[in-house]
Amino acid sequence: MNQIIAIDGPSASGKGTVAQRVAEQLGFHYLDSGAIYRLTALAARQQGVLWSDEDSVLSVAQYLDVVFDGERILLSGVDVSDAIRSEEIGSGASQIAALPKVREALLARQQAFAQAPGLVADGRDMASVVFPAAPLKVFLTASAKVRAERRYRQLIGRGEAADLAVITADLEARDARDRARTVAPLAQAEDAFLLDTTEMDIDAAVAQVLLWWRAQK
Ligand code: DC
Repeated sequence: MNQIIAIDGPSASGKGTVAQRVAEQLGFHYLDSGAIYRLTALAARQQGVLWSDEDSVLSVAQYLDVVFDGERILLSGVDVSDAIRSEEIGSGASQIAALPKVREALLARQQAFAQAPGLVADGRDMASVVFPAAPLKVFLTASAKVRAERRYRQLIGRGEAADLAVITADLEARDARDRARTVAPLAQAEDAFLLDTTEMDIDAAVAQVLLWWRAQK
C-alpha cells in the first residue's frame, strides 16, 4: 500500500489540522505520529520513568498499550486524548523523541497505519524515515511568531491560561531540539514540497495538498 501523503513540519504549524482534513477529503486513514511520542512521554511519567533514561523509556515504548478510537486515544484503557496535549507532555515528547532506541521501537507501530485505501501521516520524519517511498511529501511550516499566536489562541479557546512570551520561548526551544538531534532531525526532505502557511489559511493549505496529490497521480 503506497497511497501515502507524508506531511512534516515544526510544532503548531497547522500540519495536524491540514493532514486530518486532507485524509477526510480523500477517505484515507490519518496518523498523528506526534501523539505516539506524546503517549510514550505520558506513560513514562505515569510509571515514574525519567524522560532522559533511554533504556527505561525504550521498555515503556515497547509495551505501550494504545488504542486509537476515532478522536479518542486510550492508554491502558484510559482516555488520555486531552492529557497528551499539555505543553508539559509536548516537551517530554520532544525529549524522548531524541532517543534513538525509542524512535526505532516506535517505527513499526507508525508503519502499521499504512492501510488501504490510503494514509495521510503527519510528524517530523514521515518523509525521511517512516514512509520514504511516499509519493507525496510536504514540508508544512509557518513563521515562529504566527505558530506561537496560533498555539496561544488554541489554549485560550480551550479555556486554559496562556502567556504568549512563554509559548514563543517554548516553541523555539522545542524546534531547536527537534532540528538539532542526531537521529531523524526535523528537516525538509529533498523531494518534499514546501508549504509556508504564514499568510495562508487552513482551507488554502488543504486545497494545495489535494492539488499536489492529484497532480502526481
Ligand atoms: O507534533 P507534536 O507536537 O504532537 O509532536 C510532539 C513531539 O514529538 C515533537 O516535539 C517531536 C516529536 N516527534 C518526532 O520526533 N517525530 C515525529 N514523527 C512526531 C513527533
